[in-house]
Amino acid sequence: MYARIAGTGSYLPERILTNAELETLVDTSDQWIRDRTGIAERRIAAEGQTTCDLAEQAALRAMEAAGVKPADIDLLIVGTTTPDLVFPSTACLLQHRLGLGDCGAFDINAACSGFIYALSTADQFIRAGTARTALVVGAETLTRMLDWGDRSTCVLFGDGAGAAVLVADEQPGILSTHIHANGGYADLLGTDVGVSKGFKAEERGGVRVSMRGNEVFKVAVNTLGRIVDETLAANQMQKSDIDWLIPHQANLRIIKATARKLQMSMEQVIVTVDRHGNTSAASVPLALDEAIRSGRVKRGERLLLEAFGGGFTWGAALIAY
Ligand code: UT7
Repeated sequence: MYARIAGTGSYLPERILTNAELETLVDTSDQWIRDRTGIAERRIAAEGQTTCDLAEQAALRAMEAAGVKPADIDLLIVGTTTPDLVFPSTACLLQHRLGLGDCGAFDINAACSGFIYALSTADQFIRAGTARTALVVGAETLTRMLDWGDRSTCVLFGDGAGAAVLVADEQPGILSTHIHANGGYADLLGTDVGVSKGFKAEERGGVRVSMRGNEVFKVAVNTLGRIVDETLAANQMQKSDIDWLIPHQANLRIIKATARKLQMSMEQVIVTVDRHGNTSAASVPLALDEAIRSGRVKRGERLLLEAFGGGFTWGAALIAY
């Protein structure tokens, strides 16, 4: 039994934040941001608009595309690092909004790899026969955690959500998923506040993302190269067997390095980082949905999804779409 993608959906908040506007906030330039990251603009959630609000719109679109009703869904997983609340989980809030019934619902926090982790988990449930129709979401409002005075992070991130409905099918399907983590790199990317550690908001100015970008960059390029090799080897495939690379959208230079490693032309790579920035767990499903809805990715083609993020976490999924 395989988990087949029956439909995808995505949602972006309306407000666009351009590089020109960021020039008025911090000592940066449109040129620097475009050259070093490939980002031209990103979306920002409206005041009061939460991760669950974004997830709901993406999920509704995915369910409509898949032709499934709320009652059909028997598993809901949300990849997010920016839940509405500490608890209930965003998945529980979303389950109620969508009227899904009492299916299992939980969040996965794997930072930017959250959707790949969620997809991998749902795939195991479907392969095992314990779920037949799974809704998998990646949704974030990471801009709520940014220090708008820190030019090394505030230019990078955006908000959004993407979703996929997986159904059990004898035809492939997700061919394999691969997830990894190494907690030894926590100092390079993360926050130093939290529930148990204490927020100490008055001392630190709230929850803030901090990143040693250049060091993260090098590990990301190496690690994504390795996960690509691992995924191909697990499926006894060659680079040329992959039709599309749908990568995490953190930095165009990282995406190009992975494409080079796969000997793929950029024509075969889905790029949204220019318009979305880094939307963390939402970035892969946003790119996947755009690729499918634009008609670029077609049924029968092979897709390689990959992501790398805070933790560090990383993962990949090879899909016969
Ligand atoms: O999604 C989770 C995983 N995250 C990532 O994969 C992100 C990985 N890292 C990156 O994408 C890149 O490292 C960045 C885009 C964050 C930074 O690019 P970089 O080429 O690695 O630049 P850098 O950090 O080495 O900084 C180069 C220079 C520095 O100035 P000096 O020390 O050379 O004078 C920075 O202070 O660029 C400066 N700089 C900026 N200048 C203008 C850093 N941020 C900015 C900025 N505008 N926004």
